Formats: sequence, structure tokens, C-alpha cells
Amino acid sequence: MSAFKTLDDLGDVTGKVALVRVDLNLPMKDGLVTDETRIRASAPTIADLTAKGAKVLLLAHFGRPKGERSSTQSLSLVVGAVEKVIGQEIMFVPEVVGPVVAQSVGILGNGDVAILENTRFWKGEEANDPEFAKAIAENGDFFVNDAFSAAHRAHATTEGLAKLLPAYAGRSMQAELEALDAALGTPVKPVAAVVGGAKVSSKLDVLTHLVSQVDHLIIGGGMANTFLAAKGVDVGKSLCEHDLADTANSIIETADKSGCTVHLPYEVVVSKEFAANPPSLRTCNVHEVAADEMILDVGPSAVEALGDVLKTCRTLVWNGPMGAFETEPFDAATVSLAKTAAALTREGSLTSVAGGGDTVAALNHAGVAQDFSYISTAGGAFLEWMEGKELPGVAALSN
Ligand code: 3PG
Repeated sequence: MSAFKTLDDLGDVTGKVALVRVDLNLPMKDGLVTDETRIRASAPTIADLTAKGAKVLLLAHFGRPKGERSSTQSLSLVVGAVEKVIGQEIMFVPEVVGPVVAQSVGILGNGDVAILENTRFWKGEEANDPEFAKAIAENGDFFVNDAFSAAHRAHATTEGLAKLLPAYAGRSMQAELEALDAALGTPVKPVAAVVGGAKVSSKLDVLTHLVSQVDHLIIGGGMANTFLAAKGVDVGKSLCEHDLADTANSIIETADKSGCTVHLPYEVVVSKEFAANPPSLRTCNVHEVAADEMILDVGPSAVEALGDVLKTCRTLVWNGPMGAFETEPFDAATVSLAKTAAALTREGSLTSVAGGGDTVAALNHAGVAQDFSYISTAGGAFLEWMEGKELPGVAALSN
């Protein structure tokens, strides 16, 4: 893992202004924040800096306002939720650059916290405009990036600022990078990857990268159908990207050459309609799917066999559900395999890292999220990391 500085490397920062990039891109309903996970993720960094006597200016984006002010995307809307989580009053500053920010800094006492306005109200943010970054930097003494989930964006507050001020990884960023390094950077082998979800097309680069990195690639969800069909299996009316047959075969070929075993379901749960507990539900061999049936989950014996594969592994990286887990009983394979991974992690034989989109919801549904070694709440950034890409926000911290 490339070296980066952490909050442990800070000297005396009493009275110094910390510009702290956090992810406050929070889900909201009826004006209220519905999931505080991302606030909780940055709370230790904020607490650490306030305890050290720094003045903390939080920088974040909210939605995609494309360089225009928008009252529905003002960060003033989340101030109350952040105050509740960190247990401290917060000043809201309706600007990101300029004299209003400077005056606000003058009012803040040591250990106080302010949230600046949505950085994406300024075009310079997404353009990573050096002049915009410089104007932000003028009001701070050092930069802390605690937003791994925005690190795949090369924006002024995720990348530009790190080049202008002494830059440090916040606690959440640090934990994320250490966990990801343990999973794919310098993992203990053998390594297994579980990749599920609906479409191969959305995870092509992930699959292509993983086959050269891991010893076992377990493919589930709708994307397994594309691989099965490419091998000549009749998948009936299952969700399937038939036009990606050549791509699927070439991924399998690369896997063979790299010594990666690809596991596809040999037994599946099928139904004629996609509904909860449908009357036509049955489990069958993958070669017995009827023309009017669709594959909606991996069958129980096949999941048990996949669990046995995990038992031979020391590291697991997981992205995406094994079946249509939001509708019962098509959650069974995801729940069962997640429970096996959780039990192996608890026993200490497996390091398990999961993240991206539906994955957190699927593992919460299985009731095992807390047993995994690390769960990333990042969406796009986690996927780009699984694709083997360098994330600009992370690279800037390492330089
Ligand atoms: C996210 O919500 O995944 C991050 O905050 C990044 O948001 P973006 O996709 O709008 O850049």
C-alpha cells in the first residue's frame, strides 16, 4: 500500500484550521436524513481533531447540482443530523471560499466545527480548478480527506486540495484503505471473490481484474446466467445478456490461464414468475431449467459447496448478492453464504471485506454485517477499487 499520512502524524494543531473532506451525500426523505452511516463514519475524525484543539471546517458535496446553487441541495439541510451524531453544535457557513469563510473562521473557537456549503455549487469543484482549490486552501492550515466514497472523483476537494496543503487520511479513510489492502493489495492467500448482481455489463472491469488477482471467483446473481448461457446452458427466460457470451468466455479463459477457479451455480432455484414465494417455485439442476422458467437464486447444495470453498480460503472480498435477495425466498443463497463467511471470520480463519451498492443491504438483511472484518459503505469508489483502478483522491494523499 502506498504510504499516506494519518492523524497520528499531526503535530500540535491547537487553533489551526483543518479542512476536512467528508461524505455528506446522505439519503433524505421529507427533509430528514434516513441513513446516518456516513456521518457516523466521519465522527471519529471530527472528534480526534476537535480534541486536538483544531477548528474543523467540513467540506462535502450533496447531490449533483452542477455548479448552481439549489435550496434543496444545500448542506444546511444536514447540519441537524450531523450535530446529533457528533453531539456538538455546528456553525453553517453558506460559502466555500472568500471573506465569509474567513470571518467564520475568526468566530470559531478551538475545537469548534463548521459545515461549509455544498462544494458542487461551484463549477470549480468538479472541474478540479486549481484556482478554486487555492481559494479554499487560503482559509485552512491543513487538509484531511475522510471521504473514501468520493475518492474516485478527481475534484477540487477530493484531489486538488491535497496538492496545496499538508494532507492526511482521516480515520475512516485510513480504516478503508487498510481493509482494502488486506483484501486485495497484500492479502493472505488463498483469496476468494464473490461477485453477484444483475448484469455482467455493469461489472465487466471488476470481473476482468479479479480473475488475475484471486484464487476463486464465485459468480452469482443474474450475471451468472450470462456465464452459464455462454457455456451453452439453456437459462430459459432468466435475465441474461446473451450478447456478452464472447466476453464471458474470454473472462473464463483468462481465469484458467491465471489459475483462478470460476464457480458458477450447478443447482438453481427457478420460478415461472418473479414474485414472493410463487407457486411454480422449484430447485433443479442448472441443465433442467424449462423454457418458461427463470433462475432467481443459487440452489442450497450449490451454496453449501460454495461455503466449502470459502472454508479453504483466508481472504474474501464480496460485492453483490447471489440471487434476487429482496424477494423471498430468493434471498436464501445470499443469506446462507454470508452466514458461512461471517462464521469463518468470527473463528479467525477468514478476513472478509465487502462493499458496494446492494451488498451492504444484502449483508444487513442476512444479519451478519457486523461480523465481517470490514464493510465499505462506498458505492462507485468501491467498484473502481475492485476494478484495480487508482482512485485520484487516494493517490493524491499518497504523493
Ligand atoms: C456517493 O454517494 O457514492 C459519493 O458521495 C459520490 O457521489 P457522486 O457519484 O455524485 O460523485
